[in-house]
Amino acid sequence: MPKKKLYIETYGCQMNVSDTEVVFSILGKEGYDRTESMDEADVILANTCSVRDNAEQRIRGRIEVFAQQKKRREGVLVGIVGCMAERLKEQLLESGKVDLVAGPDAYRTLPDLLKAAAPGVPQINVLLSREETYGDISPVRIDKGGVSAFISIMRGCNNVCSYCVVPYTRGAERSRDPRTIVREACEVFSQGYKEVTLLGQNVDSYFWKSSDGNVDFADLLAMVAAVDPKLRVRFATSNPQDISDKCIDTMAAWPNICHQIHLPVQSGSNRMLEKMRRRYTREWYLDRVARIRAVMPDCGLSTDVIAGFCSETEEDHRDTLSLMQEVCFDSAFMFQYSERPGTLAARKYPDDVPLEVKTRRLNEIIALQGECSLRSNRADIGKTFEVLVEGPSKKNPDELCGRAPSGKMCVWPDSAHRPGDYVFVKVKDCTSATLLCEAQQD
Ligand code: SAH
Ligand code: SF4
Ligand code: F3S
Repeated sequence: MPKKKLYIETYGCQMNVSDTEVVFSILGKEGYDRTESMDEADVILANTCSVRDNAEQRIRGRIEVFAQQKKRREGVLVGIVGCMAERLKEQLLESGKVDLVAGPDAYRTLPDLLKAAAPGVPQINVLLSREETYGDISPVRIDKGGVSAFISIMRGCNNVCSYCVVPYTRGAERSRDPRTIVREACEVFSQGYKEVTLLGQNVDSYFWKSSDGNVDFADLLAMVAAVDPKLRVRFATSNPQDISDKCIDTMAAWPNICHQIHLPVQSGSNRMLEKMRRRYTREWYLDRVARIRAVMPDCGLSTDVIAGFCSETEEDHRDTLSLMQEVCFDSAFMFQYSERPGTLAARKYPDDVPLEVKTRRLNEIIALQGECSLRSNRADIGKTFEVLVEGPSKKNPDELCGRAPSGKMCVWPDSAHRPGDYVFVKVKDCTSATLLCEAQQD
């Protein structure tokens, strides 16, 4: 029998990219071949995100596009998997355009679901698990460069930030056996990868209990860093409440753990932070940043910010701007608050900041961050960084691109190096997004 062709589109965060690799692995063993062309696919899946309403609207648009494929070619199956599948469950089947719905903990059942599914006979599994980590599965990497790989170290989230849908779509937090994580890091390194990013919603609460000794996140970082000095280690996401001195010290101690921390602040106002159920204050946050910079003055720092959360005043907003000024993040992901059904905020607090006010505040936040990014990049002019080559620069094929340890993107003219090489580059100039460099002699 000819192999069935599987096409997957991935939306949302890096965890979803990692999950798509797990799905390719599970279905690959069942005789499904990966295709990058939707037009030849027997099975079309979208791995989805629910974090903001616009993420879900985008998927609704894709379902219409997939439906045209079903009309044109008989027998094509369309599946929605991931966070939106978990949030909306059966509702996704109502349109008759979806044949399969599977939540983030149900991927092992995809082969059976697909066998049973047929046009008009949809299948669904949205059970969340307390144990599933897909620890024993070797993901099939989807990035073609083969330089940088994601490794999921935990799933779910036990925090209850009041705006956030993730605990509902991903379930309770569980950590993955460190031996399987180290094995995966060894595997990717032997395949030629030079960088791993350890992923979790709150990596600092990683914890593995065992009779051989417990492993916390700092221990895990050291175990992965010990795989090989030429394997770079990054991670995301850190939680300001939980990031420990031990973690910061471990980063400083291992030359191959990149000095880069993504530390989402969300707001600079204590009143907002409390309402968001973030478990830290502005002062605590600034203290963590001070500690990080005292130990690693070269550490890249990025953040997430939400504009216009419930009841946010101009004063609250100014607190966010002043915190951003004070820290001067290298980069930030910035969002307007989007009410998510079922969350604590949706149940308790009116979404009462008018859209135009949210937009204006977000624009002020974005403009300020643009200035901070530029200031931070200008301060690097004249410095030399060791960069891992990712591939040709997007804008100019005669240039290569790669990241400095801080996470900043560097580009430089080069015809001598290849993806996966380490190159020393000197910063000559910059934009707010990129360091413009020159290769140093080897
Ligand atoms: N676990 C990570 C964040 C995961 S979601 C953490 O705790 O930091 C990624 C980002 O999306 C969040 O940091 C937040 O800034 C944003 N976000 C989450 N829910 C949102 C909502 N309802 N509206 C707008 N932005 C949201
Ligand atoms: Fe959402 Fe908070 Fe968990 Fe992050 S820590 S995923 S923002 S609930
Ligand atoms: Fe989105 Fe789910 Fe990630 S809601 S941000 S894909 S955990």
